[in-house]
Amino acid sequence: MGVNWAAAAAWTFFYLVQVRSAERGLSLFRDLGLSAAPDVAKINISHDEYTKMMTLYLDTRQQHHFAIPDLLTFYPVKRDWWPRLKFPMRPQRVEVEGAQLHVLAPATGNQTSLRVQVTQILSARRRRVIEEKLIHLSPTLPKWCEFEVTSAVQSWLNGERNLGLELVCPECRNNYLKPLQAAVSALVHPEHRRSKRASPYQSLRRTDCRKLRKGARRVCCRHDMEVTFSKLRFIEMGSIVQPKSYDAGFCQGQCPPNFNYATNHSRIQSLLHQMEWKTGKRNRRAVPKACCAPSKLEPLEILRVNPSDTTKLIVEKWDNMQVVECACS
Ligand SMILES: *[C@@H]1O[C@H](CO)[C@@H](O)[C@H](O)[C@H]1NC(C)=O
Ligand SMILES: *[C@@H]1O[C@H](CO)[C@@H](O)[C@H](O)[C@H]1NC(C)=O
Ligand SMILES: *[C@@H]1O[C@H](CO)[C@@H](O)[C@H](O)[C@H]1NC(C)=O
Repeated sequence: MGVNWAAAAAWTFFYLVQVRSAERGLSLFRDLGLSAAPDVAKINISHDEYTKMMTLYLDTRQQHHFAIPDLLTFYPVKRDWWPRLKFPMRPQRVEVEGAQLHVLAPATGNQTSLRVQVTQILSARRRRVIEEKLIHLSPTLPKWCEFEVTSAVQSWLNGERNLGLELVCPECRNNYLKPLQAAVSALVHPEHRRSKRASPYQSLRRTDCRKLRKGARRVCCRHDMEVTFSKLRFIEMGSIVQPKSYDAGFCQGQCPPNFNYATNHSRIQSLLHQMEWKTGKRNRRAVPKACCAPSKLEPLEILRVNPSDTTKLIVEKWDNMQVVECACS
């Protein structure tokens, strides 16, 4: 039941966001009251900038008592045989939340967009494609770009044979993209800390549907709703570095008499509703029942590309992004 509700609400949310933007050609960033999104093709975030700002972002989250991941960095072996990029790492018992390969790609001469495939080398002949994407480069200057390599890093940290990666690029010379610099950044959770990854918000407990008995879940309570920015189908969402997804939550359920009122006003409204109902004075202008709605929201810390300088990242706080408590109002 909860799953269906969550799916329906998530679908409605995406539908509304997408249709509205398609109709009016508006930016979600602008709708959220933020400065416009940066031009994704111009993003040029160096590995150093990423490390510096990711560290700051994680510190900010830690202040709010989140169990934050560790940031690990791996550099490739120098003098290794090209086109292989090998990042030595010792196996450890961790869960990889995400891992990115940052490369400084050379100037391209005349091409500005290249299709690149990241493959994990499994044996002399076998390759596993981990990501394929279009990267935007500059004809005259080197430029940073990034690739998602989470599955490869997780397999190496699990102890699988580490033979490295290749950046296959049919439009490049020799069929491979040869970076000037490369590094892998990984966000990892030690396994013993895994269980503590739940939301830190105390008040979440009070109206969390999962805390209710199965039969009681029809009353107003907070359901989970996972939002993944990349799935919102906005190109501008590509400029959000962290979080990749978060539990926004939503409120749904019935509001029986005397149940979890948000305010004194809702209590009175509910009382009037009941009186009208009992006296049979129902008409179109009748007093409605109280509705299940968010009664407490929390902000979300965001790490994203600075819209006015595409070589920098910024940490922002977006207000009222997650529901932590629901009530009848
Ligand atoms: C420029 O592009 C053409 C084809 O589009 C290619 O033949 C040529 O080698 C490229 N030049 C450089 C310097 O990459
Ligand atoms: C991208 O940033 C690097 C420094 O991190 C700089 O050397 C390079 O020229 C920049 N490239 C472009 C196209 O601006
Ligand atoms: C209702 O009003 C009383 C008196 O001001 C206040 O103490 C109480 O907290 C209010 N209840 C709610 C749910 O707002």
